[in-house]
Amino acid sequence: MEYIIFAIIAYLLGSIPSALIIGKLFYRIDIREHGSGNLGGTNTFRVLGVKAGLMVTIMDILKGTAAIVIVRLLAPSLEPLIVGAFAVLGHTYPLFAKFRGGKAVATSGGVLLGVSPLLFAILILSFFGFLKLSKYVSLASMLTGIIAVIVSVIMQDLGLIIVTVLLASFVIYRHRTNIRRIKNKSEPKINWL
Ligand code: G3P
Repeated sequence: MEYIIFAIIAYLLGSIPSALIIGKLFYRIDIREHGSGNLGGTNTFRVLGVKAGLMVTIMDILKGTAAIVIVRLLAPSLEPLIVGAFAVLGHTYPLFAKFRGGKAVATSGGVLLGVSPLLFAILILSFFGFLKLSKYVSLASMLTGIIAVIVSVIMQDLGLIIVTVLLASFVIYRHRTNIRRIKNKSEPKINWL
Protein backbone atom coordinates (compact mmCIF):
# COMPACT_ATOMS: atom_id res chain seq x y z
CA MET A 1 0.00 0.00 0.00
CA GLU A 2 2.84 2.36 0.91
CA TYR A 3 4.42 1.71 -2.49
CA ILE A 4 1.18 2.71 -4.23
CA ILE A 5 0.88 5.97 -2.27
CA PHE A 6 4.49 7.00 -2.94
CA ALA A 7 4.33 5.87 -6.57
CA ILE A 8 1.31 8.17 -7.05
CA ILE A 9 3.10 11.07 -5.32
CA ALA A 10 6.19 10.52 -7.51
CA TYR A 11 4.06 10.23 -10.66
CA LEU A 12 2.26 13.51 -9.87
CA LEU A 13 5.57 15.22 -9.10
CA GLY A 14 7.01 13.98 -12.41
CA SER A 15 3.83 15.14 -14.17
CA ILE A 16 4.60 18.82 -13.45
CA PRO A 17 5.26 20.02 -17.02
CA SER A 18 8.21 22.37 -16.40
CA ALA A 19 8.72 23.23 -20.07
CA LEU A 20 5.05 24.07 -20.50
CA ILE A 21 4.96 26.19 -17.32
CA ILE A 22 8.15 28.16 -18.07
CA GLY A 23 7.14 28.66 -21.71
CA LYS A 24 3.64 29.87 -20.94
CA LEU A 25 4.49 31.85 -17.81
CA PHE A 26 7.50 33.82 -19.03
CA TYR A 27 7.25 33.71 -22.84
CA ARG A 28 3.54 33.15 -23.57
CA ILE A 29 4.54 30.25 -25.80
CA ASP A 30 3.30 26.66 -25.88
CA ILE A 31 6.58 24.82 -26.35
CA ARG A 32 4.69 21.82 -27.80
CA GLU A 33 3.97 23.88 -30.90
CA HIS A 34 7.62 24.75 -31.56
CA GLY A 35 10.89 23.02 -32.42
CA SER A 36 10.67 19.27 -31.89
CA GLY A 37 7.47 19.78 -29.87
CA ASN A 38 9.07 17.87 -26.99
CA LEU A 39 8.31 19.03 -23.45
CA GLY A 40 11.93 18.99 -22.33
CA GLY A 41 15.03 21.04 -21.61
CA THR A 42 16.58 20.54 -25.06
CA ASN A 43 13.57 21.86 -26.93
CA THR A 44 13.29 24.75 -24.48
CA PHE A 45 16.95 25.67 -25.10
CA ARG A 46 16.26 25.44 -28.83
CA VAL A 47 13.12 27.57 -28.81
CA LEU A 48 13.48 29.92 -25.83
CA GLY A 49 17.21 30.13 -25.17
CA VAL A 50 19.72 29.36 -22.44
CA LYS A 51 17.93 30.86 -19.42
CA ALA A 52 14.64 29.07 -20.02
CA GLY A 53 16.41 25.86 -21.09
CA LEU A 54 18.45 25.79 -17.89
CA MET A 55 15.41 26.48 -15.72
CA VAL A 56 13.47 23.63 -17.33
CA THR A 57 16.39 21.19 -17.20
CA ILE A 58 17.03 21.93 -13.51
CA MET A 59 13.32 21.62 -12.67
CA ASP A 60 13.08 18.32 -14.56
CA ILE A 61 16.16 16.95 -12.77
CA LEU A 62 14.82 18.07 -9.40
CA LYS A 63 11.50 16.26 -9.94
CA GLY A 64 13.41 12.97 -9.97
CA THR A 65 15.66 13.90 -7.06
CA ALA A 66 12.72 15.17 -4.99
CA ALA A 67 10.89 11.85 -5.42
CA ILE A 68 13.93 10.03 -4.00
CA VAL A 69 14.36 12.50 -1.11
CA ILE A 70 10.65 12.32 -0.19
CA VAL A 71 10.58 8.53 -0.08
CA ARG A 72 13.87 8.39 1.86
CA LEU A 73 12.51 10.84 4.47
CA LEU A 74 8.95 9.58 4.79
CA ALA A 75 9.17 5.87 3.96
CA PRO A 76 12.76 4.67 4.41
CA SER A 77 11.71 1.02 4.20
CA LEU A 78 10.76 1.41 0.53
CA GLU A 79 13.24 0.98 -2.35
CA PRO A 80 13.64 4.60 -3.57
CA LEU A 81 14.56 3.60 -7.13
CA ILE A 82 11.19 1.91 -7.64
CA VAL A 83 9.38 5.06 -6.51
CA GLY A 84 11.76 7.26 -8.56
CA ALA A 85 10.86 5.34 -11.71
CA PHE A 86 7.29 6.66 -11.33
CA ALA A 87 8.57 10.25 -11.39
CA VAL A 88 10.17 9.41 -14.76
CA LEU A 89 6.84 7.95 -15.95
CA GLY A 90 5.07 11.14 -14.83
CA HIS A 91 7.58 13.32 -16.68
CA THR A 92 7.13 11.27 -19.84
CA TYR A 93 3.36 10.75 -19.68
CA PRO A 94 2.24 13.75 -17.57
CA LEU A 95 -1.26 13.83 -16.15
CA PHE A 96 -1.14 17.64 -16.36
CA ALA A 97 -0.20 17.82 -20.07
CA LYS A 98 -2.41 15.27 -21.85
CA PHE A 99 0.17 12.50 -21.28
CA ARG A 100 2.57 14.03 -23.82
CA GLY A 101 5.77 14.79 -21.95
CA GLY A 102 9.53 14.63 -22.29
CA LYS A 103 11.98 11.91 -23.28
CA ALA A 104 12.90 10.76 -19.76
CA VAL A 105 16.49 12.05 -19.75
CA ALA A 106 16.64 14.84 -17.12
CA THR A 107 14.22 13.23 -14.65
CA SER A 108 16.06 9.89 -14.89
CA GLY A 109 19.25 11.85 -14.18
CA GLY A 110 17.56 13.41 -11.15
CA VAL A 111 16.55 9.99 -9.81
CA LEU A 112 20.14 8.77 -10.19
CA LEU A 113 21.42 11.98 -8.55
CA GLY A 114 19.20 11.16 -5.57
CA VAL A 115 20.67 7.68 -5.14
CA SER A 116 24.28 8.25 -6.24
CA PRO A 117 25.73 11.74 -6.75
CA LEU A 118 28.96 10.08 -7.96
CA LEU A 119 27.12 8.23 -10.73
CA PHE A 120 25.34 11.48 -11.65
CA ALA A 121 28.65 13.37 -11.88
CA ILE A 122 30.06 10.65 -14.18
CA LEU A 123 26.93 10.86 -16.33
CA ILE A 124 27.17 14.65 -16.66
CA LEU A 125 30.79 14.34 -17.82
CA SER A 126 29.86 11.53 -20.24
CA PHE A 127 26.93 13.51 -21.62
CA PHE A 128 29.05 16.57 -22.42
CA GLY A 129 31.82 14.35 -23.81
CA PHE A 130 29.40 12.64 -26.21
CA LEU A 131 27.76 15.98 -27.02
CA LYS A 132 31.11 17.55 -27.92
CA LEU A 133 31.96 14.60 -30.17
CA SER A 134 28.59 14.14 -31.89
CA LYS A 135 26.83 17.54 -31.54
CA TYR A 136 23.56 15.59 -31.14
CA VAL A 137 21.80 16.05 -27.76
CA SER A 138 19.63 13.01 -28.46
CA LEU A 139 22.59 10.72 -29.24
CA ALA A 140 24.52 12.02 -26.22
CA SER A 141 21.43 11.31 -24.05
CA MET A 142 21.09 7.73 -25.28
CA LEU A 143 24.81 6.95 -24.99
CA THR A 144 24.83 8.43 -21.48
CA GLY A 145 22.00 6.02 -20.60
CA ILE A 146 24.25 3.14 -21.68
CA ILE A 147 27.14 4.57 -19.60
CA ALA A 148 24.77 4.57 -16.59
CA VAL A 149 24.29 0.81 -17.04
CA ILE A 150 28.03 0.19 -17.42
CA VAL A 151 28.90 2.25 -14.31
CA SER A 152 26.17 0.46 -12.29
CA VAL A 153 27.69 -2.88 -13.31
CA ILE A 154 31.13 -1.64 -12.20
CA MET A 155 29.56 -0.49 -8.90
CA GLN A 156 28.11 -4.03 -8.52
CA ASP A 157 24.78 -2.66 -7.33
CA LEU A 158 22.03 -5.03 -8.54
CA GLY A 159 19.13 -2.62 -7.87
CA LEU A 160 20.91 0.14 -9.74
CA ILE A 161 21.76 -2.20 -12.63
CA ILE A 162 18.10 -3.22 -13.05
CA VAL A 163 16.85 0.37 -12.89
CA THR A 164 19.53 1.80 -15.22
CA VAL A 165 18.81 -0.95 -17.77
CA LEU A 166 15.10 -0.06 -17.62
CA LEU A 167 15.74 3.70 -17.76
CA ALA A 168 18.30 3.46 -20.60
CA SER A 169 15.93 1.25 -22.62
CA PHE A 170 13.09 3.68 -22.01
CA VAL A 171 15.24 6.68 -22.98
CA ILE A 172 16.22 4.95 -26.25
CA TYR A 173 12.58 3.99 -26.91
CA ARG A 174 11.51 7.63 -26.37
CA HIS A 175 14.14 8.77 -28.90
CA ARG A 176 12.75 6.67 -31.80
CA THR A 177 12.02 9.72 -33.93
CA ASN A 178 15.46 11.21 -33.13
CA ILE A 179 17.12 7.93 -34.22
CA ARG A 180 15.21 8.10 -37.51
CA ARG A 181 16.29 11.74 -37.95
CA ILE A 182 19.94 10.94 -37.17
CA LYS A 183 19.82 8.18 -39.80
CA ASN A 184 18.44 10.46 -42.50
CA LYS A 185 20.67 13.32 -41.34
CA SER A 186 17.82 15.70 -40.46
CA GLU A 187 18.43 15.73 -36.68
CA PRO A 188 19.52 19.25 -35.63
CA LYS A 189 23.07 19.58 -34.28
CA ILE A 190 24.13 22.02 -31.57
CA ASN A 191 26.66 24.68 -32.48
CA TRP A 192 27.82 25.92 -29.08
CA LEU A 193 30.21 23.15 -27.94
O1 G3P B 1 16.28 15.06 -23.75
C1 G3P B 1 15.66 15.13 -24.98
C2 G3P B 1 16.71 15.22 -26.04
O2 G3P B 1 17.59 14.13 -25.96
C3 G3P B 1 16.14 15.33 -27.42
O3 G3P B 1 15.17 16.34 -27.45
O4 G3P B 1 13.80 18.07 -28.53
O5 G3P B 1 15.82 17.18 -29.71
O6 G3P B 1 13.82 15.74 -29.48
P1 G3P B 1 14.60 16.87 -28.86
